[in-house]
Amino acid sequence: MVMSRSAEALSIVVVVFLIFSVSLAEAKEPADTNYDESKVPEYDLPALLVDDADKTVGREEWLGYRRDEVLRLFEDSVYGKTPEQRLKVRYELVEEDRNALEGRATRKQVAAFFGESGYRIDVLLYVPNDASGPSPAFLGLNFNGNHSVHGDDAILKRGTSGKRGAYSGRWQLETLIKRGYALATVHRDQIDPDNYRNDFSDGIHPLFYKKNQVVPESGQWGSIGAWAWGLSRVLDWLETEALVDASRVAVIGHSRLGKTALWAGAQDRRFAMVVSNDSGCGGAALYRRCYGERIHHMIKPVGYWFCKNHHQYQQREHELPVDQHMLLSLVAPRPLYVASATNDRWADPKGEFLAAKYASPVYELFELEGLSDYQQPSPDEPIHTRIGYHLRAGKHDVTEFDWKQYLAFADQHLQSN
Ligand code: GCU
Repeated sequence: MVMSRSAEALSIVVVVFLIFSVSLAEAKEPADTNYDESKVPEYDLPALLVDDADKTVGREEWLGYRRDEVLRLFEDSVYGKTPEQRLKVRYELVEEDRNALEGRATRKQVAAFFGESGYRIDVLLYVPNDASGPSPAFLGLNFNGNHSVHGDDAILKRGTSGKRGAYSGRWQLETLIKRGYALATVHRDQIDPDNYRNDFSDGIHPLFYKKNQVVPESGQWGSIGAWAWGLSRVLDWLETEALVDASRVAVIGHSRLGKTALWAGAQDRRFAMVVSNDSGCGGAALYRRCYGERIHHMIKPVGYWFCKNHHQYQQREHELPVDQHMLLSLVAPRPLYVASATNDRWADPKGEFLAAKYASPVYELFELEGLSDYQQPSPDEPIHTRIGYHLRAGKHDVTEFDWKQYLAFADQHLQSN
């Protein structure tokens, strides 16, 4: 068969496109990914309210020591231990505008310099002007730089490129301000670069290394730990910021940054509310369901998100001393929101719901209603008890619908404090 030049060129383009899309699909969803509910293995979740000495615990023991036991298990086997050492920090107000967003908000951009080397992290904050006192706030890391959160020309583009406001839909800043909430954000890469070959040489980790140390030890923090540390450091600064009520700060995150928000909220009880948006494997989803993404899928590309110890649980989820209902329970009795999306099977929406449901007994210790009496709801039908859950119709993303729920939930739990 003789092909014309243009037909030949077209067929090459088609073949290259097919190879590219197949490899993309593979990169995202490996061949052994299970999406069949009937193939979910039978599993027993580790007991939440039975302590290391096998004794059933109540509220007093939970607060006294069981909560700490659970936290230690997550440090040892999943995220690694966050250093306790406090770095010296200096804050510098780099820019301020009391007339931002057409007069509706005050914008502040603050650089925080850590340790002797003055490691710099840039915080962007918007606070509603129409407030009678310090405002409650949402705090979350962003994926693409502070300038991606809103089209506002004055947002500094430090070390980042890309279009201003490219992800404004994921932040809904104008709506937050109208509803009386401040928003604080930092680019995750400024805390620890998420560059898929992370060798822990260029983020915050080296500031904590002992002499001659070059990587974290097997039980020490990975990137999720570092990002969560960063969120707590922003909260430190918000505690000094008169326009914000630091006792009413919700920590929020999407996807890997949802995993981070959960770990930040678990470790730092100053966060008044925790929101996990499509956080999936290593976030809200139960590991033992082995549905969608699994540990061995993450370790090769992004094992650095976790501690080295976590790697041994590849294909051995059942041996983990924890599962993610225990992570969620560490948020209790504070309000917790877990959100999933129907097309985000990779993140196992059902596993995210079940983890929230099985975390509920800890809420019940505080006489707060969780999700024990609920089944996973139909798409777009949120449940709001002390735990919020919804399954949004659509893809892996943060949308106006998600924020509508988070704001209603925050109105219920943060405004009345
Ligand atoms: C990948 C990864 C997920 C993660 C997501 C994200 O899909 O496998 O675990 O949540 O990226 O952060 O966008």
